[in-house]
Amino acid sequence: MIRRITKHGETVLKKTSAAVDYQAVRAELPKLLADMWETMHAANGVGLAAPQVGLAMRLAVIDVKPEGRSEPLVLINPEILEREGAVTDEEGCLSVPGLYARVSRHRRVRVRALDENGQPWERTGTGLLARAFEHEVDHLDGKLFIDHLDLVRRLKVAGVLKDLKKTWD
Ligand code: NI
Repeated sequence: MIRRITKHGETVLKKTSAAVDYQAVRAELPKLLADMWETMHAANGVGLAAPQVGLAMRLAVIDVKPEGRSEPLVLINPEILEREGAVTDEEGCLSVPGLYARVSRHRRVRVRALDENGQPWERTGTGLLARAFEHEVDHLDGKLFIDHLDLVRRLKVAGVLKDLKKTWD
């Protein structure tokens, strides 16, 4: 089932999400994850965090499709273990549709999380995957990519956002 994606300005996107108690959510997790994948794919996204479907829980899905092949990752209670380097690239977010901006992120990011079976995994991402790790963990901490812009660019973006918001549901 495709769920409605929350948009910039909604309270849930500004909250620090709560840690997931895997055993407590295990029964409802398959349905929730299926919905998140379907919602992400329908919106042509490469990542989606639970607050974007209205749930303040530390859960996200990512599929940056390296070399065009699907490589789905489920991140429950993700933690960033290491980050290094810096790279600036254009970024967007399904919760801020229509807006893209250049954001500086780390070049290499190592993450630890639980998968959909409650099993721990660790992975080092570079490029788009590193960016997605930081972007999605930011969502769980109540942050959007536009929060990384400097004051001048935020002011510029504010006018654009005002107009864009009229086109959102
Ligand atoms: Ni996003």
